[in-house]
Amino acid sequence: RIPIWLDCDPGHDDAFAILITALHPSFNLLGISTVHGNSSLQKVTNNTLSLLTAFGRPDVPVYPGANKPFMRPAVHARGIHGDTGIDGTTLLPTPTARPQSTPAVEAMRDAIMSTPQGTCALAVTGTMTNVALLFAAFPETAEHIKAISIMGGAFTLGNITERAEFNIYCDPESAASIFTLPSLSNKIILSPLDLTHTVLVTSSVRKTLTSTPSTFRTMLCELLMFFADTYVKVFNMTEGPPLHDPVAVAALMDESFRMEFEFEETVVKIICNGEDTGRTVMVGEGEGVMEHEGTQVLGDGGVGAGVVKVRVGRKLNVEKFWEVVMEVVERADRV
Ligand code: BDR
Ligand code: CA
Repeated sequence: RIPIWLDCDPGHDDAFAILITALHPSFNLLGISTVHGNSSLQKVTNNTLSLLTAFGRPDVPVYPGANKPFMRPAVHARGIHGDTGIDGTTLLPTPTARPQSTPAVEAMRDAIMSTPQGTCALAVTGTMTNVALLFAAFPETAEHIKAISIMGGAFTLGNITERAEFNIYCDPESAASIFTLPSLSNKIILSPLDLTHTVLVTSSVRKTLTSTPSTFRTMLCELLMFFADTYVKVFNMTEGPPLHDPVAVAALMDESFRMEFEFEETVVKIICNGEDTGRTVMVGEGEGVMEHEGTQVLGDGGVGAGVVKVRVGRKLNVEKFWEVVMEVVERADRV
C-alpha cells in the first residue's frame, strides 16, 4: 500500500479525496493536514473530522495547518461550497475525534520521514500554504517523498478569475515556491481544471450512487446536489459539477487500476501579480508561453537542466475513476 498524506480544505470534492485515501486498499493514509481555502481553517478542520467519522475512520489524525497565506489575506469559496465549506446536508455526524495539537508541518515531517525513502506520496487538494512551509522548514521531506500530486491550475479557462484556478489563486506565492523547488523535479503531478472537468458528477453518477438506499449514500448525494446547484448558478454548468480533488488522488494509483492517466511533461510557471494572478503557464522546449496572447511575464523559459519538471495530467479513464469512487462508497457504507 502507498503511504499517503493528504493536505486538504473540504470542500465537497475534497470529501471524496478523503474517502478514497482513507478507504481504498491502495493507500495507507498516514494523516491529514487542513488548510484555509474553501472555508476558514476551523470549519474545514471540523468538516474533515466529521467526514472521517462518517467514513468510519476517526482514527486518522487531523492536524490544522495554516489559516491564511503568508503574503495575502485568505479567500474562501462560499459561493461554491457554502458557508461551512460542505453545505447541503444535515446528515453529517458530530466528529468523534478532536484535532491534534502538534503543528501540521511537524506532523507531516514525522510521518513522511518514518516511511522508506522514495515511497510516500503527498496529495494536495487545497491551497499550497502548508506544503510550501513544510518544504521550506524541512527540505529533507521533498527529497524523501516519491511524489506530490496537486489539484490545481488551469491552462484554458479558470474558475476564480478568467484564467486562474482557485487553489493556486488563493496562494500563488506558495504554489510558485513548489513549482521552482529543484528537489521536486519529476515528482510533481498536476491535475488542472482542464483534466478535472472531464470528471463530472452527472445525474447518472448520482443514480448509481443512490441505487442502494442508505443514509450514508443520501448524505453524499445531498452534498453532491448542493455542489451541482452552485455549479449551475455560478458557472451555468448543467451537466454536473466536476469532482476535482479526487482526480489528484487517482493519479497516484497503481497502473493495475487502469486509470490510464496520460501526462505531459513540462515546466509550470505561476503568475503572482496583476490581473492574471494565480494563472498557471506551461513553458515549452526553448520558448516562452505556449498559450494565450498578452502575457508579458515569461520569455526566459525552456525545459532544460536545473528546471523543475512537472507531469501535467491530460487524460484519464473516467469510467474507472467512478468505479473506484463507488467501491469506496460501498466500503464506507458497510462500516
Ligand atoms: C479546487 O477549488 C476548491 O474549491 C475545490 O475544492 C478544488 O480543490 C477547484 O478549483
Ligand atoms: Ca479542495
